[in-house]
Amino acid sequence: MPRPPRAPLAAAGRLGACLGRGTPSTLGRRFVSVSAPALRDARLSAQPPATRQLFVGSNRLAHAPRRNLHGSSHARQLHQNTKGTAPSATVRNDVLTLGFGPDQTPLDVSLLWLRDVCACAKCVDADSGQKNFSTSELPDAPAVQSAELAADGSLRVVWAGDTHASAWTCEEVQGWRRDHGGVRTPHALPVARTFWDRSAYEGLLARGECRVSYREWTQDAGAFWRAFAALCETGLIFVTDVPDGEQEVERVANQIGILQYTFYGFTWDVKSKAHAENVAYTSQFLCLHQDLMYNVPVPRLQLLHCLANSCDGGESLFSDGVRAAYELRLTRPDLYDVLAQPMVHFHYDKEPHRYEMVRSTVAETAGGLTELTHWSPPFQAPFRREPAAGSAADGKYTLAKWKQAAAAFQASLEAPENMFEAKLKPGECIVFDNWRVHHGRREFATGQGSRWLKGTYVSDQVHRAMEDRLQKRNGNVLPDIAEFRSRLASKEMDRVASLLKIPGRE
Ligand SMILES: [Fe+2]
Ligand SMILES: [Zn+2]
Repeated sequence: MPRPPRAPLAAAGRLGACLGRGTPSTLGRRFVSVSAPALRDARLSAQPPATRQLFVGSNRLAHAPRRNLHGSSHARQLHQNTKGTAPSATVRNDVLTLGFGPDQTPLDVSLLWLRDVCACAKCVDADSGQKNFSTSELPDAPAVQSAELAADGSLRVVWAGDTHASAWTCEEVQGWRRDHGGVRTPHALPVARTFWDRSAYEGLLARGECRVSYREWTQDAGAFWRAFAALCETGLIFVTDVPDGEQEVERVANQIGILQYTFYGFTWDVKSKAHAENVAYTSQFLCLHQDLMYNVPVPRLQLLHCLANSCDGGESLFSDGVRAAYELRLTRPDLYDVLAQPMVHFHYDKEPHRYEMVRSTVAETAGGLTELTHWSPPFQAPFRREPAAGSAADGKYTLAKWKQAAAAFQASLEAPENMFEAKLKPGECIVFDNWRVHHGRREFATGQGSRWLKGTYVSDQVHRAMEDRLQKRNGNVLPDIAEFRSRLASKEMDRVASLLKIPGRE
């Protein structure tokens, strides 16, 4: 994919705003040439003397109060800046120190990192966006001929020896303060989820939310993005009026992206049959669960297109697993802590497929967001024999403790007031977040009628890329880093507290 064009270095208005100082005048920018016998330490002194340009900033900056940010070790170069408040770029011990003036703390970046993150046309192919060199081929400490941090916050580095220059905009330089560092396409923060119990979800449907027609989903971009946003927020939407046909579930999924292939195939049938290899393919009651807990990666979205559902029974059941996890986190943090341990083995063991994974029942991201749950009683493998059942030898995480915590989690999941129930109609396709929303099915009678669902999966990577597009489309561009996730986690917990009417957090 082509890389978006860089902002021109001289786009001082926008970049000045990036520095939070209003708009510096590029016309007012002066620079002085400083003869620098060595810009780096002794290793660099073997390089020929270089001429260094030090921008000393706009007139506005020139009137700022005098302040030396770098201490005496950098004093020689800062003295050249006449005011001590101008942007500066100083190389010492394989590190480039960027000084931004009195309003911002200086930033240190290693020269190796800086050389590696260069995205100029020599380093990154403009058409493919792929890197033209291997990091391992770089010198241990790439030598700098000159480094300039302009008043508008942009940085230009000319490398000694390989005769090329690197340039970064103010936004890129400021982005290095974040923990995504030099990632060229950082993700936006995920959508803030809303959590639901039965009446909350029924309320959404009654207001016409979480429902979109096939025609809108496939042909009306505005309606599609609204429905996709509802999917990110609630984890469950209905696509209605889907044409009859075995290919349609794939068409519905392809609006989000490519399908995730599993050993069930690209798409699969949920029909009852004799001697079924999967309980889903029987007519029995199917408890709330998430699919493919033994698989890597666990499918993110699941789609089920109803082609026939005329048997008695067979109602679909849904429950918001992350809501139940947050409920425990708020009301029984001791039990939540047990569920956060990787203690449960899931497996699928039918030749030739033998899969197994150990997982925690609830899982958090960096920043403390309760991201997802892992719950599938029918596919649990035996626990490891105690005392190895838990991760701690002190007996803190025993099977008995897990069983107590799991019972509380399951009770919340399956409480009638938390479970949403619907009998799917032919032409309806449900799309749900398999990392979060648990699904199940009531028993159905096979004596008359037929029941046939066609299903498929979409992976997390594909879903996440679309969620990122949604966030950027809506102008929600906070980067996906731990600092912002922790604020999101707090917001999400408040939402669950409000649903549970827990005083103090509402
Ligand atoms: Fe399932
Ligand atoms: Zn380059």
